[in-house]
Amino acid sequence: MKATAKAHTNIALIKYWGKRDESLILPMNNSLSLTLDGFYTTTTAEFREDLTADRFHLNDRLVDGTEYQRVTAFLDRIRRAAGRPDVFADIHSTNHVPTAAGFASSASGFAALAAAAAKAIGLQVTDPELSMLTRQGSGSACRSIYGGFVEWEKGTKADGSDSYAVPIAPKDHWDLRVAAVVLSSSEKKILSREGMKRTVETSPFYPAWVDNIPDDLAAIKQGISQKDFEKVGEIAEANCLRMHATTLAASPPFSYWHSTTMAIMQAVQDLRVSGVPAFFTIDAGPNVKVLYLPEQEKIIRNTLQEIPGVHDVTVSRPGEGVSYI
Ligand code: PMV
Repeated sequence: MKATAKAHTNIALIKYWGKRDESLILPMNNSLSLTLDGFYTTTTAEFREDLTADRFHLNDRLVDGTEYQRVTAFLDRIRRAAGRPDVFADIHSTNHVPTAAGFASSASGFAALAAAAAKAIGLQVTDPELSMLTRQGSGSACRSIYGGFVEWEKGTKADGSDSYAVPIAPKDHWDLRVAAVVLSSSEKKILSREGMKRTVETSPFYPAWVDNIPDDLAAIKQGISQKDFEKVGEIAEANCLRMHATTLAASPPFSYWHSTTMAIMQAVQDLRVSGVPAFFTIDAGPNVKVLYLPEQEKIIRNTLQEIPGVHDVTVSRPGEGVSYI
C-alpha cells in the first residue's frame, strides 16, 4: 500500500484560461505545454489501516489548513475510484522547485500525488485515466503526466470523461530551452482560480480568447512538428498576451504584471530586433519564462540577469513524464 512517484512541472505555450465546470475542473479551451526537466516533485503515498485521517508532509513539514484540505479532498476521489473509502494515507512530498521560481508547484505536485496514491491504493489506471484523475486536483497538472509537448483536450462531456492530456511530441523531439526569470518581489495577489473566474464572468474579451484557440493550436502544432522556432515562439508569445489582455478587460480589471515583468518583455523583444531569436510567456503571476535555442544560451542568460529587479534565472530543457521510484 506504498508507492513513490516523480513528476515535473510544465509551462503552457497555449494557455488554459477559464473553467466551464469549477468542481470537476473542466476547461473552456484546449491548452498545450512543454514539460520541463528543471523543476519536479517526488511524492510517497502510504495507505494504512491504522490511520483515522490523512497526513500530508511537504518538504518534511506537516501541513494543515487549505493546502491540506485540497490534498485530502483529492485523496477522497482516489479512495472512491478504488472502492476503498475506509483507508487513509500518509503523504510525504518534496518540491524540487526553487523557492518562488514562479512555477505553480501544484502542477508537479498533483501529478506526483495522483500517480503515487493511485499506485499505492492498487488502482489500475491507464495514462489518460491518470491524467483525468490528476486534472481534478489541479487543471494544469493533468499535462505533467507526459513528457515533452503535451495537449490537454478540453473534451465536451459534462462528466469530464473526455478531458485529459495527450502527448504531442516526446522530450527528445526538440532541444528547446526555457529560462525561468524570477523577480525580486513576486507576490501573487490573485490566484489563477479567482483570476479565471472573474475573467470568464466579466471580461468582454473572453469570448474572443476562446474563439482564437483552435487557430493558435493548429499553427503551433505544425510549428512543433517542423521545429520552426520563430513560428512556435511567435504563437506562444501572442497567445500569452491575449490571455493577459482578457484580465485587463475584466471587471474589476486586474493584471499579473509588475514593472520588471514589462522590462523583461521589452528586453526579449529588443533581443529579437538585434537578431537573437527569443520569445516570452507569462502565467498567472509576474515572473517571465523565455524560450530560446541552445546556441543562444549565453546571451540570453547575460541579458536577463542584468535587468534591474531580476532575482534569479534558472534554465530548463524538455523534461519527462511521471515515473515511479
Ligand atoms: O492549473 P492552475 O490552476 O495552476 O492554472 C494554470 C493557469 C496558467 O498557468 C495561467 C496557464 C496554464 O495553462 O498553465
